[in-house]
Amino acid sequence: MLYRNIALEAVRVTEAAAMAAARIMGRGDNIRADMLAVQAMREALDTVNFRGRIVIGEGEKDDSPVLFSGEVVGRADEPVVDLAVDALEGPTIVATGGTNALSVLAVGEEGSFFRTPDTYMDKIAVGAGAAGVIDISKPPSENLEAISSALERPVEEITVVILDRPRHEKLIDEVRKTGAMIRLISDGDVAAAIATAGEDTGVDVLMGTGGASEGVLAAAALRCMGGNFQGILRPRNREEIQRARRMGIRNVDRVLAMEDLARGNIMFAATGVTDGELLKGVRFFKGGAKTSSLVLRSQPNTIRYLQTTHFAID
Ligand code: FBP
Repeated sequence: MLYRNIALEAVRVTEAAAMAAARIMGRGDNIRADMLAVQAMREALDTVNFRGRIVIGEGEKDDSPVLFSGEVVGRADEPVVDLAVDALEGPTIVATGGTNALSVLAVGEEGSFFRTPDTYMDKIAVGAGAAGVIDISKPPSENLEAISSALERPVEEITVVILDRPRHEKLIDEVRKTGAMIRLISDGDVAAAIATAGEDTGVDVLMGTGGASEGVLAAAALRCMGGNFQGILRPRNREEIQRARRMGIRNVDRVLAMEDLARGNIMFAATGVTDGELLKGVRFFKGGAKTSSLVLRSQPNTIRYLQTTHFAID
């Protein structure tokens, strides 16, 4: 059983990371934005009342000095939980002052999160209305037909979000042929996946290939929001396949259901760094800042939007 106040602990962590990164919005420095968010998240994790093992982190210990997979954080001995983190989802978004950069933390019982190497994943994500009809092993056109009939809207009124990447040329062509609307995004497919389950976001489906860790985080959120997510790992080379095997993933090509990626009792917190469909970005005022966050629990199943005013931040 995860204690309910862990949810508030989790959102304090994402708020701290979001405020740290937002300060340098638009300065063209994605590396520094990421570093500030990671440092702030790591410091905030020193103060939480649980013992958390990072299973989805900022990389292996060798390439990330903090928030690496395997690192143990928190100031208490219990409860013992697993953590999936992305201190700044979309550093490039912050660098350009774009939309939908988030700070994200998911908390689960031990063994909750799928352990993935740093690789890519094919993804499909939808909100509650189409949760039962998606099948990533089918072509995009068939999925869109099924989603359109589940949502009782013509396919021309369905909006698909796709990362704007050359690798998606064929996917974009196929989706265009169905007549569906497309929103191409520069970065940030976690926010896009979550937006499929939000109200009035204008986003119905996420399709395409993005980071595998981001897939785990999106699955955690969508499980709490009644949506659905499916993924298939897409390693870029033999080394990534071998790493996956070393992590115990025997069949690298298999379809990963939402429950394979994030199972059991889950909590999820995300704070807006820059403005987005679901969350506002950080607003600074004299002597403080306001943050907007989403706080989700799978058991009991709750969705909270949290506005926080922070005074006397440094
Ligand atoms: P990071 O926060 O790890 O930089 O991810 C940003 C992002 O846009 C993700 O949302 C997405 O899954 C991934 O990058 C796509 O990777 P790539 O930029 O290599 O296409």
